[in-house]
Amino acid sequence: MRGETRLVRLLLGGLLCATVAAGCANSGQAHKTPRPNPYLTQDTRHSIPLSSSAGKEHRAVMLQHLETIQVIVSALVEEDYELAQGLTELHLGFFQHRQAMAHQEPEKFPSAYHDLAMAHHEAAEELARIIPTKDLKQILPSLNNVLKACVACHLEYKVRDN
Ligand code: HEC
Repeated sequence: MRGETRLVRLLLGGLLCATVAAGCANSGQAHKTPRPNPYLTQDTRHSIPLSSSAGKEHRAVMLQHLETIQVIVSALVEEDYELAQGLTELHLGFFQHRQAMAHQEPEKFPSAYHDLAMAHHEAAEELARIIPTKDLKQILPSLNNVLKACVACHLEYKVRDN
């Protein structure tokens, strides 16, 4: 039990790190190489030229992604594995991808972006498969892979020119 509480704490700490990635870039053994922060160092991200409405749609999906991650973690904390799995599948899996793309301008995204998006959805589907084990030692690495996929894309792409 005590071990589990520690894991949950670790999990929350990890998420905080992901949210304020800049501050954590050089701490902790999880990051082997410091990640360049485009706002503090040179911005090498590729810009995706979306119309303003598609750009808004894209941001809305992104904000929802972050919220979903929070609610998934919350469900894990509450040991509601069924809810955690359902949310992961519905909001981060391939279903969500089809929904999102229907409202955006898929042809404007380079194929490398689609690959990163697919890798992210694949990681989410994998997490959804692992959650029913109710074993945080398996769930955490899988959740970590989902977050890694978020970060990987954020390092490569931006929507507006900033
Ligand atoms: C395939 C690429 C890709 C993946 C995967 C991805 N994002 Fe994003 N995300 C972007 C891009 C591009 C932006 C816009 C960045 C910019 O223009 O500054 C963005 C922006 C955001 C924003 C800012 C939204 C705003 O209001 O400005 C949040 C929050 C976010 N993403 C969360 C997430 C989370 C959480 C995940 C993983 C569960 C995720 N993203 C996965 C590409 C991605």
